[in-house]
Parts: sequence; C-alpha cells; structure tokens
Amino acid sequence: MNDSLAPEAVAAHVRGRFGKPYRFEPDCESTQLLLVGSGLGEGAVVATDHQTNGKGRHGRQWIAPPDSSLLFSVMLHPPAERHLPELSLVAALAVAEAVEGATGLTAQIKWPNDVMLNRRKIAGILCELFDGVVVAGIGLNVNQTRDELPLDAPTEPGSLRTLTGQTYDRAPLLGSLLFRLERIYDGWRHGGLTDLYGEIGARDFLRGRRITVDGEAATALQILRDGRLEVATGNGHGTTRAIESGEVLFER
Ligand code: BTN
Repeated sequence: MNDSLAPEAVAAHVRGRFGKPYRFEPDCESTQLLLVGSGLGEGAVVATDHQTNGKGRHGRQWIAPPDSSLLFSVMLHPPAERHLPELSLVAALAVAEAVEGATGLTAQIKWPNDVMLNRRKIAGILCELFDGVVVAGIGLNVNQTRDELPLDAPTEPGSLRTLTGQTYDRAPLLGSLLFRLERIYDGWRHGGLTDLYGEIGARDFLRGRRITVDGEAATALQILRDGRLEVATGNGHGTTRAIESGEVLFER
C-alpha cells in the first residue's frame, strides 16, 4: 500500500477549506503544540506519522506506532456565542461519518469525545482553547494490529483494521474526515447543535448503559440538545441530572 500523509499524497483529497494550509511532520512531540500560537487561520491542519508525546484527555498520553493511524490537529476560530464543549461532539460526528464511509459499518459517539466501532474505542478527540481559538486534535486508530494497541486504556481500544480485517489508505480517509468536519462545523457555527442533534443522538453509545461518571455510578439516559449528558443517579428516586464534562466508564 502506498500509504502516506505527505502533502503530495493528501492534496488530491482536500476538497474544501479544511486542510489549507496543510503541514506534515514525519515526527513531532504533539500536533497540538505545533498549532498553538501559530496564528494560522481556521481550517489549518498539522498532521504527523508519529508523536513522541501525544496528548490525550485527563493528562494521559495518546500512543500509536509510527505510520499506523491518523494523528492531526485542526485550527478552529469558533464564534463567541457558541458553546465550546459542543465542539467535541461536532468532531466526533465527523469522525463517525468518515469511518462509516470507509468501512460501511455504523460508528457511535461515546460522550463526550470518543468514537466507537463494535464497542471498541477507535478515536479520541482533544479540544483545547487558547486565546479564543480552539485546537481540535483527533487520533483515529487505522491500521494497528491488535498487539499494537495500548493494553491499559480505560476504554478497550480497537482500530479499523482489528475490527474489519482490512487495512486503509490514510490520505483519502483524512480528506474525507476534513471535508465532513468542515460541513458539520459550519452547521454548528450557524445554528449550534440544533441541526446536528438527530445524527449525534442516533449514534449515542452510552444511552441506557450503566456507567460511572468521575467515579459515581449512574445510568446514562441521553445526550441532550445542548450537548450535555443526562444521567439517572443510582438512588432509585428518579433523580436525573445533566453533566457538562467528565470521564465516563461503562459496564460491558
Ligand atoms: C483522548 O484522550 O481520547 C483524546 C486523544 C487525542 C489524540 C490526538 S492525536 C492528534 C492530536 N495531537 C495530540 O497530541 N493529541 C491529539
């Protein structure tokens, strides 16, 4: 497979604003760090084949062997009136749609920022705010074999390869993801989650599952129209509440 994320391989697959400019580094510490403070406009992308200190949520590392996956960050300049925590769901929907386009399988969104395929986490999203701009980092496991996936991840990981038995050319997948992200993000810029809610709700992985949120037991009810997660807490008195952020673990 001629699988490369070099600009000459990716350019043919960049169809819109997102991915322009496109910077590729064969190796870097973290693509997040390369966009922060760069002053680049909305849609600028930094991608790499390997991160030496990939950033995950909750202070974790995001680990992937060289050339195995999509590791990239996108610059976003969201309008002040939008609710920024919703951006993780916006990006997750774009990843889910791109994965569905490539595999023909339905992907799900595990609130607030993971993408699941066949109950395995295949992608994580890290949105970081700096001086009014958001750097949205996406890691999508593509061609890792089973033994190349992290053993100690809190949510069991998978890759498109482990879950479908096929390998995937990463450049067209990146192009498809950026194109979908642009369309979904533009919809969100214009009207928030309103028009996206149906697509997000239909892929809600946690709905009805027993979970813990930051250690507290609950049942996930649904992703709400404002992007929060509605949960029923375990006291049997019908108490529900909406959660803005947190680490969610689920029972199998
Ligand atoms: C998570 O913890 O689930 C979020 C992981 C986000 C990883 C991506 S890989 C590309 C970008 N650069 C980083 O250092 N992190 C994000």
